[in-house]
Amino acid sequence: MQCSDTTQSHKYTRNLVDEGNGKFNLMLLCWGPSHTSTIHDHADAHCFMKMLAGSLQEVRFEWPKGEEAETEEGMVEIDRNVLKPNGVCYINDSLGLHRVENASHSEGAVSLHLYCPPFSACQIFDERTGKKMKCPVTFWSKFGKKVENGPPKSAC
Ligand code: SIN
Repeated sequence: MQCSDTTQSHKYTRNLVDEGNGKFNLMLLCWGPSHTSTIHDHADAHCFMKMLAGSLQEVRFEWPKGEEAETEEGMVEIDRNVLKPNGVCYINDSLGLHRVENASHSEGAVSLHLYCPPFSACQIFDERTGKKMKCPVTFWSKFGKKVENGPPKSAC
């Protein structure tokens, strides 16, 4: 499995390793220095994560209150965990939302993620307002081969 050259891109890459006969998606995420995800949900799936190299920080948030929730105070942080190599974490929507970030300005990181069942879109949230948007889950590579044309600019 090859990871992208994360020093050349502005965003971490998702690399699909196994589709588990449609029951799960197993993927490697390759993070360059300072790369960070959006705040997102997990589309009613289980999400397991294990650090393989480097270190990442997971920041958890409460769901914004109400359906049309746009808050003036911003989203509420509930937890913060640092994941070192072999460290694991688990989240589903009942536990809140999270953002994953590589806090290092010089080191990359690699993490293994299992989404069960697999999902092709999730919701992302603006930390300042709680406003949400649907976003496709895209891959930089699948089964060791780079996806032609790569993720679109709209990818989260
Ligand atoms: C992502 O898939 O972009 C973020 C990592 C995660 O929540 O597992």
